[in-house]
Amino acid sequence: MNTSPASSQRAPWRDILDSHLQQTPGHEFTIATIGYDARNRPVPRLRTCGCRGFFPELELHPKGQEAMDEQVEGGGNPPTYESDMLCFTTDTRMEKLPQLESSGNAIEAVFWLRDFMTQWRIKGTAYAIGDPTGNESENEKASREEIKKSLRLKGHDRDIAYWTWDKAVTKYFANHSPVARGSFRNPPPGLPRSQSASNPDLKLGQKVTDLHDPVARNNFRVVVIHPEEVERLDLTKQEDGKRWKWILEAANGSDNAQWNETEKCRCTHPPVAPPATEAVMHGAVQSTGTAPPPTSLAATRSLRQTKAKAEAKKKETAAPSDDIPSIPSEPEPEPEPEPEAAVGPPQLLLREVPELPTDIMVAAHHLAMHTVYARELQRDIPVFKVAFEGGILAQRASMAEIQNSLEARSATEIAIFQDCLLAHRDIMAAAAVVQRQVVLWIESWTGGN
Ligand SMILES: Cc1cc2nc3c(=O)[nH]c(=O)nc-3n(C[C@H](O)[C@H](O)[C@H](O)COP(=O)(O)O)c2cc1C
Repeated sequence: MNTSPASSQRAPWRDILDSHLQQTPGHEFTIATIGYDARNRPVPRLRTCGCRGFFPELELHPKGQEAMDEQVEGGGNPPTYESDMLCFTTDTRMEKLPQLESSGNAIEAVFWLRDFMTQWRIKGTAYAIGDPTGNESENEKASREEIKKSLRLKGHDRDIAYWTWDKAVTKYFANHSPVARGSFRNPPPGLPRSQSASNPDLKLGQKVTDLHDPVARNNFRVVVIHPEEVERLDLTKQEDGKRWKWILEAANGSDNAQWNETEKCRCTHPPVAPPATEAVMHGAVQSTGTAPPPTSLAATRSLRQTKAKAEAKKKETAAPSDDIPSIPSEPEPEPEPEPEAAVGPPQLLLREVPELPTDIMVAAHHLAMHTVYARELQRDIPVFKVAFEGGILAQRASMAEIQNSLEARSATEIAIFQDCLLAHRDIMAAAAVVQRQVVLWIESWTGGN
């Protein structure tokens, strides 16, 4: 097995990638490995995988944590370690693991994060863990040793004794739903659906609630990517694309490697359409990864004209109390000459207005205003990004303070606090769904223009 250089410092690119990923729920990445064709020529192999964040820090869904509390000593590992290593889960019976083994574990992962107009490429070495025989397996033992070199202590020394590899992998297994866990008891990949597997335990559509299910766990692995070269390509400003590249280099004769920024340059490439109606707003509005198609500039202008007319009409009739002072209103659009034979503005189809309880409509109204606000901010993306990233850092700082102050308190208080964090995340996800619905309503009310 190839060994990797290890750094004791947090990688310089980690916080920005982490912040991008935290604001991109359900992030998938493309994973490339090297395979060999029938003539034994190396061939690239790529596939989509769900990114599970930086190993071993994983925030479980409440149901997953419930399962951990019931079935794993102490409910899992203490928060002892952090790292710069992204990870994903897989099934040993798929092709990527043998491909990794036969190619020195070489791997590359790529994200295209559209909300940030940013591509991240992470090249490195992959280590798979989760073999139930533990250190009896040479591969498992070697992988654990390699990964361990790049784990940084973030908790108390005293917790190290309670931290185990089995609990770490079990947490990733618990992070899957019972149906997804059941996929690790499917017949072997590639077996025609008409045939049954020779092993009667292997069947389609099983649900697994036992986190130590021996059949599923025998096939389940966590693949940890040790990064050695990271590239960030920012296309926010199309006329001024930016690229950063960091390489992990071990100084001669030293075990400790460090990240060197080898490149920070502009790049030229064909223009890319920026994100259209949806935007990320101070963590309150997040993409669910199913973005509607981009709105063209002409369509946006037409929508703005239609809304401007509706606004003007509303101003004639509405009382001043209709204003929402905390949300900046859309600036007056510049008057644009209308062509003589222009088709009139699309009619509002009132029958399409959904019948929803008042509180949901009020929430939808606020979100609609936020959508407009976000769109305005996006016109000046660099300013927006700086404000947004500053907001996230400030939020992080205060979260760290809260967490520090909680450290001295009881486990119950900490659990309540963590529940609040999870509830907050769920609310944010729900807000993103509502916001998408609002964007669709706006589009349908204005005839799709
Ligand atoms: C949205 C999406 C997410 C996926 N997530 C994973 C994953 O987390 N792990 C995985 O092994 N395969 C995942 N897959 C399936 C892989 O893309 C691929 O089909 C499978 O892993 C077999 O690839 P291989 O035989 O080259 O290893 C996902 C596919 C899609 C479309």
